[in-house]
Amino acid sequence: MSDRMNATPNDMRAFWMPFTANRQFKKEPRLFVGAKDMYYTTHDGRTVLDGTAGLWCVNAGHCRPKITEAIRQQAGELDYAPAFQLGHPKAFELANRLIDIAPEGMGHVLYTNSGSESVETALKVALAYQRVKGQGSRTRLIGRERGYHGVNFGGISVGGIVANRKMFGTLLTGVDHMPHTHNLAKNAFTRGMPEHGGDLATELERIVTLHDASTIAAVIVEPVAGSTGVLIPPKGYLQKLREICTKHGILLIFDEVITGFGRLGAPFAAQYFDVKPDIITTAKGLTNGVIPMGAVFVTNEIHDAFMTGPEHMIEFFHGYTYSGNPIASAAALGTLDTYREEGLLTRAAELAGYWEDALHSLKDCPNVIDIRNIGLIGAIELEPIAGEPTKRAFSAFLKAYEKGLLIRTTGDIIALSPPLIIEKAQIDELFTKLRDVLMNNI
Ligand SMILES: Cc1ncc(COP(=O)(O)O)c(C=O)c1O
Repeated sequence: MSDRMNATPNDMRAFWMPFTANRQFKKEPRLFVGAKDMYYTTHDGRTVLDGTAGLWCVNAGHCRPKITEAIRQQAGELDYAPAFQLGHPKAFELANRLIDIAPEGMGHVLYTNSGSESVETALKVALAYQRVKGQGSRTRLIGRERGYHGVNFGGISVGGIVANRKMFGTLLTGVDHMPHTHNLAKNAFTRGMPEHGGDLATELERIVTLHDASTIAAVIVEPVAGSTGVLIPPKGYLQKLREICTKHGILLIFDEVITGFGRLGAPFAAQYFDVKPDIITTAKGLTNGVIPMGAVFVTNEIHDAFMTGPEHMIEFFHGYTYSGNPIASAAALGTLDTYREEGLLTRAAELAGYWEDALHSLKDCPNVIDIRNIGLIGAIELEPIAGEPTKRAFSAFLKAYEKGLLIRTTGDIIALSPPLIIEKAQIDELFTKLRDVLMNNI
């Protein structure tokens, strides 16, 4: 008998879940059935404090009225408009609103439907830009060890998380990687940006010397590496990367899928660190995670380089059926309204000190080997159980969920990134629950 004939409405077998221990989950399912502001409601009627803004995306908190209403209205007014050679007003309005909050000179936006697609789009823009500028030999892309740039082929090629790469063949050719900046021996328990490791940016010089600048199109990094377990850039590191890229005519791409839209206390990490990339990738917080959408910001210089040739010709052969989808655009506009009205794009800066103190108060818990933070991001690195990597953190995740707290784990690292609406009392609640978990962890 086929699986389909066996299926009942509550049957969980058909859905092959993403980045999930499917067999474990289906034995003990964890389902959310509702959410409001800082809390989820589970299928068994419990309340769970959202310590991770969903997957780093629900920056304004859950079920916010402006966003919900914008979607409802748009769905009844214009559900879809073709994205190629046609348009609709909200996609243009949104692009204007986005460049208003972007770093100076990033005057153009391409839409996508996810962070992974934003990365592919950015890499393609970079390669094509070098070519239209008459530098077609610049085809190499440089990423970084432990980088996460989504799950598509370009993204896993420049990415540096081994488990995400090793099953998928030889990936893109002509890619190289800088070393990651994590250094527990020198930087453990640093508050904010680490002192040691800024000079690792000069590894890019070594790579340039190896391949020659004339073969390199772009460097892509997360300003703060998130998915690998929160690696905060050492002091001076990003500035140095920028200098080296400029010196060699290499484009610098900041993957701000996590850091975009207020996570650090400024609209973008580029502003927070005062380092200007040539391209910024975003998604997640753009629509508060509610509707899939991403956006890639490019400088005027990049955009203008394509605007040549006969006017009836398509300038860049790239795009998605859903680029700038009306309902996604409406959701993003509702999100930007919410961010503006509640000052959420800078709120992390106000809370960062309180957050940092509360997070570092867990230093005395058993098995904690590092705590790090920046903006409204925190990470707690645990000593792995000998011979069973990831198990300690995963068991903390399960215990936290039982106690009414959502945390995220990667390897043996706990990552925290609550909605930017979090109140101090909720920060206290989060760390009280987490202390309880860590004190009784295996
Ligand atoms: C820095 C970064 N880039 C890209 C992505 C991929 O985004 P998505 O899952 O929307 O494809 C993520 C997701 O976490 C991310 O953190």
